[in-house]
Amino acid sequence: GAGLHTKKLGQTIHYVESCPSTQIIAHQLAQEGTPDGTIVLTEEQTAGRGRLARKWDSAAKKGIWMSVVLRPDVVPQKAPQFTLVAAVAVVRAIEEVTGLKPEIKWPNDILIKGKKSTGILTELQSDADGIQALIIGIGLNVNQSLQDFPEELQDIATSLSIESGKLVNRQELVRALLSHLEIYTDLYIETGFGMLKILWESYSSTIGKTVRARMAKETLTGIAEGITEDGVLQLRTADGKLHGIYSADIEMTN
Ligand code: BTN
Repeated sequence: GAGLHTKKLGQTIHYVESCPSTQIIAHQLAQEGTPDGTIVLTEEQTAGRGRLARKWDSAAKKGIWMSVVLRPDVVPQKAPQFTLVAAVAVVRAIEEVTGLKPEIKWPNDILIKGKKSTGILTELQSDADGIQALIIGIGLNVNQSLQDFPEELQDIATSLSIESGKLVNRQELVRALLSHLEIYTDLYIETGFGMLKILWESYSSTIGKTVRARMAKETLTGIAEGITEDGVLQLRTADGKLHGIYSADIEMTN
């Protein structure tokens, strides 16, 4: 009913003016058995959350704050790649609607000219029977001006309108986003990560560069050589060793 071109994604839409976090609503709906492809959209989050228990700044009516409930028939080991798949879908949607050239910073940040425009947070509901639901949260800065961001974010965050010089139609962007998400998540579920890995790497700002990976217990510096079929970042340190990085904050070194 919302002019969507998707078969599954967004056929059930929960829209609320304001909420603490669309992730929380999506988790509740998933527990209550909401269908595969349900989306939760809001104008404003009062407790938006990011990776690693960080908060996510979600200004009123300026961004796309959305959670998608998927119920894929895949083993839990195939869950982390959905973040990477979603990143490809976001990049394609931004390109299509704005003509901008976003890049992906492993694992889940979408950068434009080196600044963060989008974050993706994938959470899992699983039990002994496997994955019950995947909740993919997407926070996309669309029409903020620089002053709309808290001061501490102004050097590292950006929005599509800051980068393109014009306001962007959020409805059009949501439609494009859902179309691409449906295409790429289906592709992943049906054929695996092979094609998507090539696409992901082609949009990556990380691969081929020397980066610093800050992990909970150590920091490693090396060349990011690629990602594996499991979405693990391959980092080659100066001693020639190849390290598999599962979770880290990546910084570019120059
Ligand atoms: C990150 O970069 O750390 C991930 C940010 C994810 C933000 C989105 S906004 C919609 C959804 N609801 C939340 O509370 N978080 C995600």
